[in-house]
Parts: sequence; structure tokens; C-alpha cells
Amino acid sequence: MPSNKPKFYLTTPIYYTNGLPHIGHTYSTIVCDTIRRYKRMRGYDVVMTTGTDEHGVNVERSAKKAGVPESEFVAKMAAEWSALWDELGVQGDEFIRTTDLKHAHTVQWLFKQCRDNGFVYPGHYTGQYCIYDNAYVDVKPGENCPDCGRPTETVTEANFYFKLSAFQKPLLDWYAKHPDFIQPEARRNEVLSFVEGGLRDLSITRTSVRWGIPVPGEEPHVFYVWFDALTAYLSAVGGPQYEKTGYWPADLHLVGKEIIRFHAVYWPAFLMAAGLPLPKQVWAHGWLLMDSAKMSKSLGNVVRPRPIVHVLGMDALRYYLLRETVFGQDGNFSYDALVQRYNSDLANGLGNLASRTAAMIEKNCGGKIPKPAVFQPQDTALATTAQEVIGEVLEQYDKLGFSLALEEIWSLIAATDKYLTTEHPWSLGESEPDQQRRATILWTTAEVLRIVTALTHPVLPESTTKVWSLLGQPDQPGSFPLDGLRWGQLAPAKPLGKSQALFPRIEKAEAIERMEAMEKEEQKQPSPVTATAAKPASAPAAGGAATAAAPAAAEKIGIEDFARVEMRVGQIKTAERIVGADKLLKLTVDIGTEIRQICAGIAQYYEPEKLIGRKVAVVVNLAPRKLRGVESNGMIIAASVGPEGRPVLAGFPDEDVEIGARLK
Ligand code: MSP
Repeated sequence: MPSNKPKFYLTTPIYYTNGLPHIGHTYSTIVCDTIRRYKRMRGYDVVMTTGTDEHGVNVERSAKKAGVPESEFVAKMAAEWSALWDELGVQGDEFIRTTDLKHAHTVQWLFKQCRDNGFVYPGHYTGQYCIYDNAYVDVKPGENCPDCGRPTETVTEANFYFKLSAFQKPLLDWYAKHPDFIQPEARRNEVLSFVEGGLRDLSITRTSVRWGIPVPGEEPHVFYVWFDALTAYLSAVGGPQYEKTGYWPADLHLVGKEIIRFHAVYWPAFLMAAGLPLPKQVWAHGWLLMDSAKMSKSLGNVVRPRPIVHVLGMDALRYYLLRETVFGQDGNFSYDALVQRYNSDLANGLGNLASRTAAMIEKNCGGKIPKPAVFQPQDTALATTAQEVIGEVLEQYDKLGFSLALEEIWSLIAATDKYLTTEHPWSLGESEPDQQRRATILWTTAEVLRIVTALTHPVLPESTTKVWSLLGQPDQPGSFPLDGLRWGQLAPAKPLGKSQALFPRIEKAEAIERMEAMEKEEQKQPSPVTATAAKPASAPAAGGAATAAAPAAAEKIGIEDFARVEMRVGQIKTAERIVGADKLLKLTVDIGTEIRQICAGIAQYYEPEKLIGRKVAVVVNLAPRKLRGVESNGMIIAASVGPEGRPVLAGFPDEDVEIGARLK
């Protein structure tokens, strides 16, 4: 049973296991995770469910193709999904799999309730079926699916029907009584006109499919995927015993717009038929588009989350997705815009404000939050802005207006940057009044930073946790009650915590190159079901694109494959920085037979002068390419160390090796 806090139960869609997550799926999960963190900070006892949708013809076929039993196939795929959410820090509180026993019991129980109440009858059905969308579609034989454009199949089978037609009026009444049930407005209108147009009964079992939950006493009937899948939301929080856990009905089902009808028509109808409480709200978000088309595996235009997280961090992806797209509408994804946002809003905005505030307090106030003296009108004006922003941000979060909420927060950051520029605390002297004025300005800035940190935490959990401890705040920002957030709560005299890297500025072209290279490697990875060890290794090279993408570690290679890479001992002759590329050094390297020009992404860690004469390992048979307009003809090998991938040059400290010697 939940605590005495009000409960809030929210769900992501449960994802199909015949593919791996791309950032479209990640978007749904990140949004849910943001709401989950926000609601916790507003004092709710929150449960978030995510999971995997594991039955149906698609899985039967994929498992067959992989040469493994379905149960093994889905177990491996579900583990991949769950591990990825873990890695991204967005694991829900409940992870439901439709092959879980408790789920099968719930589906069978729900069916019995619907049947006992007279809403289920046996029949036959012939229709065009889209196996990719797991739905009968309204087209003629030979025509393609109107939703995904792929071929449909003609299916005739004995099945059980659900009397959806009986729910037209109850559903319309429900929508009228609960105007916020379907969001946003455009989706509500779409659903309303669909239901007003009349509802046909729905086939909810199959005899043509083997891989599904059996209908008790009616074998070989198994449940149709949507009756099965939707019920997962209930199975996750107690199933037939939902009253004991206290989380049902769900407060929010968050879904992509293509599945709104299943959630806003079928699901409430099933629940009404069984006499169960209905969810409070279904929110349909838009799609992430890539080159104006929905990102999807079938179109081959997917972007995976791992490369982005590896290069820019999880918070950068979260921020970009929530800031760039108006929630509910479609949004275009581009690496360019992602890195742009990262540099301008995160590195130059929040990151810069945090590091300069901490540095000034460190230098001028002995590393302790200063005690403000007399507030001037300009301090009070900033305080008023901050107080207003708190109200507006909470209001936007409540409406899932993430983009506007973040815009508000960033306008406060901009106002604070401007305040620092006009008040220029750095130019004040050491007289008593100057010291007092500086203390007041720095306290005011730190107080804005505290408020910004608390407000941004649901979106940027990782980095705000660092800023929170930098400001010497107790616990985690996630446990701070947002209802009590007010201007003026920052206590003076608290020592600052450890300063940690937040959002180091990154060269756009280089970041994009690294993400794209890793993306290509990810796409090449064999399916986790057939592979033996499909995890990517970490990046080992410092030549070319700084730390280039990880090699596929899945298969063993023969010695002849290794022999194709020609590596030699080289000696660095000259080294210089490249204007406009903070990470690259331009080197000339003697490889025994010639002097090569090679660019290496080591500028942030090695002084050019100290490299002269150093012997390094060089890949000499790489095709030449241009980096930031400079030709690079080879690659210097380095280890990639720590989460930031600090390059450490491989070398030969023990023996004076001959220049040009081959590495074997
Ligand atoms: N298994 C069903 C859902 C059953 S829920 C009871 C399903 N699975 S799915 O894996 O195909 O997609 C699930 C969700 O992923 C979509 O509803 C949507 O939320 C999200 N997205 C998949 N591609 C997307 C984009 N390109 N953009 C945004 N979200 C997308 O449907």
C-alpha cells in the first residue's frame, strides 16, 4: 500500500522486443522519467512502469530466424532493453514483461471478467492483417498497411470477439465527463471523431498464432496482442489484487501518437467491461523525425542513444529532447542542433554559471557561501524574477510543458549572467563596503543557481546532483520538496562541495564525427540473440577523430584480419595546435620511411612542446582524411581512460626501439 503521500502511477508504452531501442523509444522513457522525478519532488509516492511487449507473430518469426526458442529470444531482448534503461538511468520502478506469469494471470482474469459480464462472444474473422503493427487493417487483399506501408496478409480464423460496439456511448460519456482524459487536444478530437463514427467489435484472440498467453479452456486460442499488452499496466501493480497495492488506476499513460486509439478507446472499454477503474489520463506525444520521416527501424533512419550518451552525456540528450520539441508535437532530430544546444545552453549557460559562481566564492569568500549585506534594487529585481520563474516553471511542468519550463529557467540564467556583467563583482576592491557588496552579489548568484538546480533536476538529474553538492546542499536535489522552494533559503557560511566537470565545451564537428562513428558501429552489431558478446568495447585511438568509435567486439577475428592493420613505431618531430579546433594537435611523425602529417585529438591533455622526440605507436595504412580541414595521414594509438575518454599515448618507455619498427 502506498504511504500517506498521494500516489501517482505512470507508465511508458511497453516496447516490442523484436528490435532494440532508438532515441524515439528513449524519448517516451525519458519523458516518463522526468515526470516521475518531478512528481516525487512535488511530494507524490510515484510508481513508474515500463517493460516489454513480447508476444505475437513478429516474435515468432524473429526467434525462428535467430534459430532459438521464442522464450530465449524474448528473454535476451528484454534483458537488453532493461540494461539500456539502467545504463541511461531511466529504469522504471516496475519492469513488466508480458511473458511474466503474473501478467498471464492478470490477462486471463481480465478476460474472465469481461466474459462473465457478457462482453465476449465466439466468432470468425477474415481480414487483412499487418504483422508489423499487430493489427487488422482496413484495406483490400494485396494492399499494403496504411500506417506503415508494408504488405498485409489475409487471415481467417476462429476467435473471440470483444463487444466494443457496446461502449460507444459509455466512452463518449466518459470523454465528456473527463475532458482531460485524452491529451493533447488534437488527439482528443481525433479519438472523439473515431468513436462518434461507430465502433466495430474487436477480435481479441487468435488461433493462428502460437506465441501468446493461452485463453484458459479455449486452447489453441491465445490472446490478441493489444488485449495482452495493455493489461501489462495493471499486472505491474497487483493485477487482480490491484486494490492491495493501491496504485491502480493509473494517473498517466504516456504513449506515442500512433497508439493513442488503443489506449483511449480499447483500454478503457476493456476496463469498463470488467468493472474496473479507468486511468485518469492518456497523453500522446509526437514523433521524433529524422529527415522529416518518423524514426523507425523499418525505414532504417534510427539514431541510438548510446553514442550520444557516450560523447555528450545523458543529461545532454534529455535536455535536447525536452527543450527542442514542444511536447505533443513532432520534432526533428539532428546531431547539429543537439551539439549546438549542448554548447550554448549547457556548457555556456548552466555549466558556466555554476563554475564561475563557485570559482568566485572560492577565491573571495574562503570557499563558503557568503553572508549577504544590504540588498540593492538590482538584487531584489533578480530575486523577484527568480520567484516568478519558480511559479511559472511548476505550472508548465504540471502541464507537461517541458520546453516552456526550460525556456523560463534559461531566461533566469541569462538574467543572472547579465546581472553579473553589470555588477562585476570581480572589479570590487578589498574595502569593507566593497567586500560586503561582493558578498551580496555572490550570495544572490548562488541563490539563483540553487533555485535553477532544483527546478532543472527532473530534466538533468546527473549534473544537477553535482551542482547541488557543489553548493553544499544536503541530500540529493531529488529529495528537495519543490512545493517549498522559495527565494532566500540559501544558508550562508556553508562550505562549497567539490567542483566536478559539468558540461565541457566540445568541438561540434568532432563530437558529431564521434557520435556518427559509434552509431555506425552500433548498427553493425549483430542481434544480441545470435551474438555471443555484443557489448561495444571502449575507444582506444587518439589519432584522427580524437577518440574514435569503439570496434565491434562481438566476433573474434583471425590473425589475417589483424595483419591488415599496419602499425609502426613513429617519432614525433613537430607538434602544434590547430586554430579553431581545441582538441586537435597537428603532428609530423617520422615513421622510418617517410615523415607523415597526422592529427591527434590529444590537445587538451598534452603540451605540444613536450611531445617532440616522443616515440609513439602509429597506424600507418589508414586512408588519409581531413579533420577540421587539415589532412591527417595515419593515427596515433592511445588508451581511452575514464568516463571522459582521456587519451593516454601508447609508448615504449623500457627500450630504445627503432623508428619504423613494425608492431605485431
Ligand atoms: N508494444 C507497443 C505498445 C504497447 S503499450 C501497451 C508498441 N511498441 S513500440 O516498441 O513499437 O513503440 C512504443 C513507443 O515507442 C511508441 O508508442 C512511442 O511512444 C515510442 N516511439 C517509437 N518510435 C518513435 C519515434 N520515432 N518518435 C517518438 N516516439 C517513438 O507500439
